[in-house]
Amino acid sequence: TREIKLAVVAGDGIGPEVVAEGLKVLDAALAGTDVSVSTTAFDLGADRWHRTGETLTDADLEAIREHDAILLGAIGHPSVPSGVLERGLLLKLRFALDHYVNLRPSRLYPGVPTPLAAPGDVDFVVVREGTEGPYVGNGGAIRVGTPAEVANEVSVNTAYGVERVVRDAFARAHARPRKKLTLVHKHNVLVHAGHLWRRTVEAVGTEYPEVAVDYAHVDAATIYLVTDPARFDVIVTDNLFGDILTDLAAAITGGIGLAASGNINPEGTTPSMFEPVHGSAPDIAGQGKADPTATVLSVSLLLEHLGLDAPARAIADAVAADIAERDGTPRSTTTVGDALVARVSG
Ligand code: IPM
Ligand code: MN
Repeated sequence: TREIKLAVVAGDGIGPEVVAEGLKVLDAALAGTDVSVSTTAFDLGADRWHRTGETLTDADLEAIREHDAILLGAIGHPSVPSGVLERGLLLKLRFALDHYVNLRPSRLYPGVPTPLAAPGDVDFVVVREGTEGPYVGNGGAIRVGTPAEVANEVSVNTAYGVERVVRDAFARAHARPRKKLTLVHKHNVLVHAGHLWRRTVEAVGTEYPEVAVDYAHVDAATIYLVTDPARFDVIVTDNLFGDILTDLAAAITGGIGLAASGNINPEGTTPSMFEPVHGSAPDIAGQGKADPTATVLSVSLLLEHLGLDAPARAIADAVAADIAERDGTPRSTTTVGDALVARVSG
């Protein structure tokens, strides 16, 4: 039997509620297999910060490193100044654990309401770079609060960082039936980073002659996501463009209640981290009405990452079947979780 050591960071707001359902479905999917899961809960987020002033200590990080994967609910609370938990906890985990592939699939499940009139067959994945770009924190401000203030956020793009994520995106595109890769950037304005990305895609592309490559400026990509999202197969882009595009991608495929993600270290030298794309939604926290589906789908990505394809698929199929029967009647968090457990077990 194989034992999976799972670090659980439920976090803030609706995080604990959706994570509880994710773990229920995970257990159900592994019942009757020779895989078992042991979980370690990590007390991280707004409460911990209020109590101790700590976001993520070296000891926390070392303990998390001992695990095979991380399931994260949501981070952030209005009672904590903006950026403290985002930078000090969530981004610190992504950076410290070298999660350079931020994988965000978008699939329009049959029966899901979409604001698009004629969406077509939407099934693409965004490979968002996870450790560079403007997220690095390379910047600064002078004369803050005066009319002469200057505030800089420098986007960091290294040849090493761009090449490794582009390679991952090509490999994913190659493994998919349509074998298509779209680079999204803005190389007509961001000429330094943009051309590094463009040249890297060109160079790695010579090793993947079967993969069709195209390019869209990020502003045009937002139009395509609304007018013709079925054109996309794999999108590779930088950290900030990927952040923005994946919220739009979620909005056209049923909303952030369904959007799952993986923060992946493909080499497996550190635990990868799986989380819903949505935030902590403090306005509905504690009311049992958050949709846990995005977390459950993140659990499916987690299993897939660990090579457990059958239970991963069982969860994805259960979600697809559940979604197909949704009629818009509100269901509680646990009701959805229980329904998915029943489908996975049945
Ligand atoms: C996301 C979130 C985070 C990001 C925030 C909370 C730091 O928006 O996971 O998409 O910008 O990456
Ligand atoms: Mn985001």
